[in-house]
Amino acid sequence: MSGIKILGYGLSQGDKIVSNSDLEKIIDTSDSWIREKTGIERRFFSVEKNNLDMAEEAAKRAVENSDVKVCDIDLILVCTFTPDYATPSVACGVAGRLNLGKGVMCMDINAACSGFVYGLNIAKAMLESKASKCVLLIGSEKISPLLNMEDRSSCILFGDGAGALILGADEEGLFESSSGVLYDDEILFCDRSNPKVSMRGQEVYRFAVNKVPEIIREVMAKGGCSAEDVDRFVFHQANLRIIDSAAAKLKIPENKIYKNVQNYGNTSGASIGICMAEMMEKGLLKAGMKVVCCGFGAGLTYGATFFTVGE
Ligand code: UT7
Repeated sequence: MSGIKILGYGLSQGDKIVSNSDLEKIIDTSDSWIREKTGIERRFFSVEKNNLDMAEEAAKRAVENSDVKVCDIDLILVCTFTPDYATPSVACGVAGRLNLGKGVMCMDINAACSGFVYGLNIAKAMLESKASKCVLLIGSEKISPLLNMEDRSSCILFGDGAGALILGADEEGLFESSSGVLYDDEILFCDRSNPKVSMRGQEVYRFAVNKVPEIIREVMAKGGCSAEDVDRFVFHQANLRIIDSAAAKLKIPENKIYKNVQNYGNTSGASIGICMAEMMEKGLLKAGMKVVCCGFGAGLTYGATFFTVGE
């Protein structure tokens, strides 16, 4: 059995705060509608910074607040569906900006809003197999240029940002995962020929409120625990109503759930990374705690992990 240790954490946001009232000025919407339907109050759009700039900022902050030397990092994973280039990857760019080269493996993971959960799985597998000793796992998204600002049902939802964790192996730790895909390219997609996010919101909503509790129950059963035993639940931040519905079905007390969708909107593959970095900063993720993370989104992908935070 082997788990993960969190050795460092870092955050970055888009450079422009966009409130619901700002959106009221350009589309037919209202602050009250957005808050009531999603819980979102504002989001960051990145005007000056590209995806790599945010990933680099989060990565450098993670290194700064850890005891890890940059040269210890031997795997860089960036969870993103919005890389600046088809190739090279954002992960290669981060390696370049950290002056890393020989002995480092770099790759982007595109699993949309399940990205960070899939990234945790890959990091853990690489650490457990000893193929890696120190993983820099980043979720970074610049979604704003891909928004159709004439589609009020989708453009109000998303934002830009990055969250990074530096992970090491915890020989004594627990780590379980469950995941899946229900292939669909019509409900939620972004086509290269017309690169704008397109979504049938109600169908995604129904998928999420059904799959999230199911996959969390499954991963908790693998970990031999119930919601009572888990200290922290970290959901992909898409919509407060989805989180609250899952919490009600699983009978999770409010104080175990971390929410920041109010401030960021939906940052897709970055959202769980941003949550975890903020939780570390606030002292909400401590060694020995049992944590469940759950992501869901385009693909349609879904996944959950259960792990203990290593010493
Ligand atoms: O990471 C995963 C990605 N996505 C998600 O998790 C999204 C999941 N889905 C949702 O969160 C919800 O479906 C939305 C928040 C996107 C929409 O909420 P809804 O309750 O499903 O609204 P709806 O699409 O059924 O629309 C209800 C009404 C419609 O008006 P009429 O036809 O009833 O007159 C829409 O035109 O709300 C209208 N509407 C808006 N009104 C004001 C849709 N968007 C807006 C808006 N402002 N931004």
